[in-house]
Amino acid sequence: MTSFKQIKLKINFVVGSLFYTRYALKSYLYSRQRDASARYFKRPPTKEAFDNPGKLLQAESTSRGANFYFEQTELEVCFLTPNLVRIEWKGGLSPVPYAIARHDWQEVETKLKQTGDRWTVSTAALQVIVTVDGSLTFCDASGQTLREELPPQRKDYGWIHRASLRQEECIYGLGERSFGLNLRQAKDKQQKPHAFRMWNYDAAGMYGVGSDPMYICIPIYMSLHSAGSYLIFYENSFEATFTFVENAVADFEGGALRYYFTAGSPAQLLERYTELTGRPPLPPRWALGYHQSHWGYLFEDVVRAEAKEFQARNLPLSAIHLDIDCQVGFRAFTIDPLRFPNLASFTRELRELGVQFIAINNPGIKCSRESNLFLEGQVLDGFCKYPDGQLVTAPVWPGWCVFPDFTHPKVRNWWSRQYQYLLDAGVAGFWHDMNEPAAFVSWGDRSLPKETRHDLDGRGGEHREAHNIYGLLQARAAYESLRQYCPHQRPFIVSRAGWAGLQRYSWTWTGDINSDWSMLRTTISTVVGLGLSGIPYSGSDIGGFQGNPSAELYLRWFQMATFHTFYRTHSSNNVANRTPWYYGEPYLSIMREFLQLRYRLMPYFYTLAWWASQKGYPPVRPVFWADSQDAALWNVDDAFLLGDALLVCPVLESGARMPTAQLRLTRHAILPKGYWYNFWDDTLLEGGQQVDLAAPLERIPLLVKAGSIIPMEENKQLILHVYPSVEGNAKNIPDSRLPTPHSLYSDAGDGYGEWRLDRFGMVRDENGLELSWETQGDYAFPYQKVRVHLHGIKLQQVWVDGTELACQGQQIECDPFHQMRLNFLLADTSKTQN
Ligand code: GLC
Repeated sequence: MTSFKQIKLKINFVVGSLFYTRYALKSYLYSRQRDASARYFKRPPTKEAFDNPGKLLQAESTSRGANFYFEQTELEVCFLTPNLVRIEWKGGLSPVPYAIARHDWQEVETKLKQTGDRWTVSTAALQVIVTVDGSLTFCDASGQTLREELPPQRKDYGWIHRASLRQEECIYGLGERSFGLNLRQAKDKQQKPHAFRMWNYDAAGMYGVGSDPMYICIPIYMSLHSAGSYLIFYENSFEATFTFVENAVADFEGGALRYYFTAGSPAQLLERYTELTGRPPLPPRWALGYHQSHWGYLFEDVVRAEAKEFQARNLPLSAIHLDIDCQVGFRAFTIDPLRFPNLASFTRELRELGVQFIAINNPGIKCSRESNLFLEGQVLDGFCKYPDGQLVTAPVWPGWCVFPDFTHPKVRNWWSRQYQYLLDAGVAGFWHDMNEPAAFVSWGDRSLPKETRHDLDGRGGEHREAHNIYGLLQARAAYESLRQYCPHQRPFIVSRAGWAGLQRYSWTWTGDINSDWSMLRTTISTVVGLGLSGIPYSGSDIGGFQGNPSAELYLRWFQMATFHTFYRTHSSNNVANRTPWYYGEPYLSIMREFLQLRYRLMPYFYTLAWWASQKGYPPVRPVFWADSQDAALWNVDDAFLLGDALLVCPVLESGARMPTAQLRLTRHAILPKGYWYNFWDDTLLEGGQQVDLAAPLERIPLLVKAGSIIPMEENKQLILHVYPSVEGNAKNIPDSRLPTPHSLYSDAGDGYGEWRLDRFGMVRDENGLELSWETQGDYAFPYQKVRVHLHGIKLQQVWVDGTELACQGQQIECDPFHQMRLNFLLADTSKTQN
């Protein structure tokens, strides 16, 4: 790096770091005030505690299951579908159902049967066995035990709930976590099993491996063990602690013990969970492109120059994100007119370059009589207050702020209206930051006092309950606003905080992540874990938020992020503005190739997004998704699947010291069973084993599952990349556990108009392949031509709908077809590498 660049970095660092000192006194004063409030408004103990429910006295069947009456409490077993059951132990505050998207369920046939001191409530798919002491066993239809729960314990305002874990059982989810994927293996600094906190948290300044809690905590987990897999979701937003040792223990500070259980493959679990909490809507197509961001785009000219530089360097770009420094005094819903003098014409100019303008939005509103939002919110009585009616104020970027109570419908409506004039000025989307909600502190919790009062849609309650849903409800207000105000545009919202159901409104990113190799690796688990918690659209600040990555780290991060749904570079105000050209060659050219690959893969990404909107499957999946019965995959967290077809193995350590292709780094990977083609050279690998894969600087190992068709696009042409299956005559009918057939979803890319789904069939026989093509929907086929590219086996002859066509090497160019026959040159079968 040139010394000029180094000096600039140092100045950046000093200036950026000084920036924080202005908040020191306010943070100190607020921390004292928060602690004083905790002492003053202390909760009196309740008399509700019991160590166990006592003996079962009576059971009665209901239309959806059964009620059980114990000495101390009642238990309700209520089947929503034959596969999904809601359990509720009575006692404590019932949740306001913000997470729940579906309330009308069809009738379910259930049976209640007594055998000795056990009662069984069952459907055709599940059995819940209730024992006289209050322990519960969950079995599948064949009677196979999936989960055993101990009698629950009521403590003061909350509950402690325990379930025994099998020795081999693995646990995933809990929202956003900064550990390896299997949370059962997570250890704290003393090497003790980690206790996970449920309390959305601004992890700024300290976010490395093992930071906990993080911005999005959701009491949901998926379990895999030798007898099957299941999912548990606790509909309880109070602070809680989860541990997974011999037992899975969930310890809630308040609320009801209401939870949902379902069993099945990971795909089925997510399908059912998102039927309950909502599916992620289809995003605008541009959102799946590349986004550039930096905390430090101060002027319109800087942003313009950045967009033009991308264009001049032939680097595709879909959006630029503006941070708080485009605002007036960091205030919500402002854009400084001195530095962005004509926002509407500027956003138009960017759109002409194919670039969308995304504005930041923070919930804290500056306490100032000069602020309209502050005055309006006061008139509305819409800000959070202490129990004695005083406004809660805490320091955030604008200085002393008040906080809208998004749990009040009128406040959500008022907030919704604020987006409109920015939408009129051409702002295409919003990123919501600091919405845990975060407050600056010198010590202790970085949020509002726990005693803060909230409306909770008329029921009333404390911040203890409203905290974790605050970001969710801000996202809801924004989503409803964008839907209502721009009915022909799909909303694009990214929210740092959230809770169960966030997927209905928003994407997320993994916050202020440190710029180091360990975090590159952890990001895989964080993003996959979010997907398993129902949130399919996420990504990290490429290269890390805090710190200046080496060229190699930035490149490796960039390569990985090419296969994540949210593909954005972002960085702090005290580090360099990272762009693909910042490190010069050869990095720039390699990043260009990956960017172009991402845009070529757009039909595949968009189709995965459509499947997510239909079934809730996250596009980015754990490797075990390929075969959840293969225990060898349960702990694989250095790779991930993109859809069913692509296995991505990011390079997670420094090794190629010189940027030359001769210095090859290899990457160890565990492959799921079946056959896999190397994306870069079509070599065939047998799965079910560990392999070393070449990983020179310009590549990361990328494998394609044999039997896949990947739709890609180039120059308005659709290219169907066909990777034949290997098992002789085997029909390539997708495994029922992976129910997404080969498909291509298309529409106008935004709005709610016509659509089409092209479904492809592929059957291999001894001499070749039969491809079939069926279409649903009315949207016109959006490509001029189709190219079919056969991988791995030499192509000899092709017939399209009965007519023989000339092949061009491994490719055939044609119009959309019904049937295609591809004959192989069998003497030259594929090379297999072990
Ligand atoms: C928070 C966000 C970060 C943003 C910064 C300034 O730290 O996580 O992305 O750049 O605030 O707004």
